[in-house]
Amino acid sequence: MVPTPDVIRHFHPVLPARSLGKKPVRVEVAGRAYALFRDASGKPAALADACPHRFAPLSKGQVRADGRLQCPYHGWRFDAEGRGANPSQPELRHCDASSFQVVERHDYLWLAERDTPLSAMPDMEVDADEYVYGGAFSQVFEAPLHVSLDNFSEDEHTPYVHTRLGWDDPRADQVEFEAHNFDDRTEVHYRAPQRAAPLMKLLGVRDGDFFQNDWVTRFDPVRSQYTVSWVSPTGKQRPFITRANIFFVPETATTTRLHAFSFLKCVVPAMRPLLPVAARAAAALTWWEVRDDARFIPTVADTPYSHKGMRLDKYDKPLVHQRRLMERIYYRTGPSVASVPLAREASSG
Ligand code: FES
Ligand SMILES: [Fe+2]
Repeated sequence: MVPTPDVIRHFHPVLPARSLGKKPVRVEVAGRAYALFRDASGKPAALADACPHRFAPLSKGQVRADGRLQCPYHGWRFDAEGRGANPSQPELRHCDASSFQVVERHDYLWLAERDTPLSAMPDMEVDADEYVYGGAFSQVFEAPLHVSLDNFSEDEHTPYVHTRLGWDDPRADQVEFEAHNFDDRTEVHYRAPQRAAPLMKLLGVRDGDFFQNDWVTRFDPVRSQYTVSWVSPTGKQRPFITRANIFFVPETATTTRLHAFSFLKCVVPAMRPLLPVAARAAAALTWWEVRDDARFIPTVADTPYSHKGMRLDKYDKPLVHQRRLMERIYYRTGPSVASVPLAREASSG
């Protein structure tokens, strides 16, 4: 499927805020390039990365002392709203560049078109009274969006692609699984014996514990929120619960950039002072797991968009439904449906 540029009506995380200094930076979303820069006041701005004159990349230009971005080819310059001026023909009109909205949040720069209201910023559902921010990271997946998303939409690959989190091969038949398809999202629940993983003891996980992964996937933009926790064999909740919000940003037809925001909460009051350190450990653990997936993904990068002909199993229940949600909500290319109560479970899937 050919990605449509229309997706930029959703807010996408595109760059760690600290990565944008005095020099412009090029980012790509769904095959379109944007030049990010900071104006004279340090405020981030974004223009289409093609100069209106002869399409040179503005990201290869420089920011002038007055905060305008100057094209590297013939020196046309543009302010944060895209208003352009030509130094060699000052009377020339209609030389503006397309401009976009940039918002800084959770240490990241988020990009959307001008008309997108701030209320459309994705909610990470991490109440500050409960969750502590552990950090964010980005990783490139050498695969199209649909392959990257499918990989993150099932845990059947856990024993084979991962080495720490979750169960191992001898206990692959002890997985409890539930999945529900809704009209705006999918929800998935896994519970299985946690394999021996010494590093996880830092998070209060003990041998014999059960690993639980509950997640929700939405399409405004494409993102999954994973809540991972552990319970003892008798059902006692272990102290720390991790929540990772992962955003799947298609860059080109063959690459996807994942941006992960990791949070941690503690359900044992006496252990709360450990939260800031434990939150960073949880973020590192998340990074490690995502890297396992990133290393594997080139192996399946050529998987077709359609699931036709595949012998899907129960763990794949969200996959087919998610294609439809992605087309309708994210790309806005699928058939439109009558509005239905959000809580209703879709009959399909
Ligand atoms: S291409 Fe940008 S000024 Fe000519
Ligand atoms: Fe994975």
